[in-house]
Formats: sequence, C-alpha cells, structure tokens
Amino acid sequence: MNPLLRGKTALITGASSGMGADFARQLAAMGCRVILVARRAEKLQALRIEIFERHAVKVDTVAMDLCAADAPRRLFDQLKAQGLAVDVLINNAGYALYGEFARSNWERCRAMLDLDVVALTHLTRLFAADMVQRKSGWILLVASTGAFQPTPLYAAYAAAKSYVLYFGEALHHELRQHGVGATVLCPGVTRTEFFDVAGQEMTAFQRLTAMTSADVARIGLRAMLRKRSCVVAGPVNAAIAAFAPLMSRQFMAGIAARMMR
Ligand SMILES: NC(=O)c1ccc[n+]([C@@H]2O[C@H](COP(=O)([O-])OP(=O)(O)OC[C@H]3O[C@@H](n4cnc5c(N)ncnc54)[C@H](OP(=O)(O)O)[C@@H]3O)[C@@H](O)[C@H]2O)c1
Repeated sequence: MNPLLRGKTALITGASSGMGADFARQLAAMGCRVILVARRAEKLQALRIEIFERHAVKVDTVAMDLCAADAPRRLFDQLKAQGLAVDVLINNAGYALYGEFARSNWERCRAMLDLDVVALTHLTRLFAADMVQRKSGWILLVASTGAFQPTPLYAAYAAAKSYVLYFGEALHHELRQHGVGATVLCPGVTRTEFFDVAGQEMTAFQRLTAMTSADVARIGLRAMLRKRSCVVAGPVNAAIAAFAPLMSRQFMAGIAARMMR
C-alpha cells in the first residue's frame, strides 16, 4: 500500500474497461477511495464489487456520457454535493477511429474530439482549481505514442493526443508551484477494447509489441507519484518516442502509415 495515497480519493474516467479498470484496481490497492466513471453502468457495478471485495475501500460509480457538453460540470457538481474532494484525477476515457479521415463519419469524429480533448480539458480545469486551493493533488492525462508524430489512418485521434501531451506538459509547469502534479502517460499498443472500438484489426507488429493494461497503468501511476511531466510506457515505445523528433515529421508519418496497415 502506498502511504502517499492512503485515504485519498481518486476519480478515474473510462473505468469500465482496459487501462481505466486497472488504474482503479491499483489505486484501490494503494488505499484510495475510487470513483469510477464511464457509460456502461453494469461494467462499473461489476468492478465496484470486485474492488470492494478485494481491497475494502469505498467505491462509487457514476454512469455518464462524458461527450455531453455539460457532463464534466454535472460530475463535478455531483461530487461536490456529496462532499467528495478529488485528490487524484485520472483523465483516461478516450477512443480512436481508424481509417482515412476524408471517409470518416463526422458525428463519431466530433464525439471523439469532445471526449479525448474537450471533456479531458474541462475536467482538468474543474478539479485542478480545487487542488490548487488545497495545495495538493495529482492529475494523470492519458495521451498516446501517437502524440509524437503525425499518424495516417489515425490522423484526428493522434493529433488529439498531441494536444493532450502538450497541454499536460504545460500544465505540469503551471501546477508544480502549487504543489499539484500533472503527468502525461503515453501508452503504445495495449491489449484492451481499444482496437475493437477503433475498428482496426491489430497488425502483426501491434500484436507483437502489445503491452498489458495492468503494466501500462502501473507505469503511469509510478510516474504520477514521482510527479514526472511525462512517461512513455515500455522501452520500445520510449525509444520510438525519443527517435521521432530527430526525424522530419513527413518521414515519421510515412513510417507510422506503414506500421498502421
Ligand atoms: N489500447 C491502446 O493501444 C492505447 C494506446 C494509446 C493510448 N490509449 C488511450 O488509453 C485510454 C484508455 O483506453 P483503453 O485502451 O483502456 O480502451 P478501452 O478499453 O476501450 O477503454 C476506454 C474507456 O473509455 C470509456 N468511454 C468511451 N467513451 C466514453 C464516453 N463518451 N463517456 C465516458 N466514458 C467513455 C469506455 O467506457 P464506456 O464504453 O463504458 O463508456 C472505457 O471505459 C484512452 O484515452 C486511449 O486513447 C490506448
């Protein structure tokens, strides 16, 4: 159990599957009360029971579509009304759309940007203000290794994750003087529901390099507790992320395109 987080309250978005569920399990194991947010109420309920039985911490669930424009505010107000102060914000909910952008469904693309960019930013704005006042808190923002180069066939998604990377790293500088941490986690390929939702069959390269969501969550939480600005999950992904800025962006876009097909 990590003494830093014992008795703290952690809010995890996208907790009904994949990395979000593992963030919740690991934070509960550290002694946190966890608040689980996603749309699928039955999945949240099953995880609530699992975590409570294993770790005996308080677990709250909020079934909510975070794409709705007023959702972050409703969530914030609901927790305030319950007297809950959030010490740890895990901004994890997100999804991708695979395929040529010019053929994409605009409504799905817009909803993706609403979730991956707007809701993440709005939640951060709401909860960071409270953390600054209390001079304590941790924010983890889940980006992607797609943030480091233009990524054909994931064009809008990868660009949204570049936003998360730059936003989170700037925030890291702004918040550290107030005793609040902001850390960006950049996972590479991870075995979750992500590829089914995105509509991509995993390539041989992706299957070969895929990490487990539990390992990625562990790397993210460790970096968050050390108040690092950014962490890339896994040595192969870290090497690719370090290499990308040394090359021209079009060169990297060509490599990314080959890796995605
Ligand atoms: N897996 C990868 O290879 C990979 C790589 C790089 C980055 N990432 C990032 O990692 C994060 C977690 O994804 P994952 O891999 O764990 O995928 P996942 O298993 O599909 O989990 C995504 C989570 O987001 C929630 N979500 C989706 N739409 C939502 C909405 N409108 N409102 C509220 N919650 C919503 C989903 O729950 P409901 O459907 O129940 O709402 C689910 O809990 C995402 O930000 C993703 O972009 C993943």
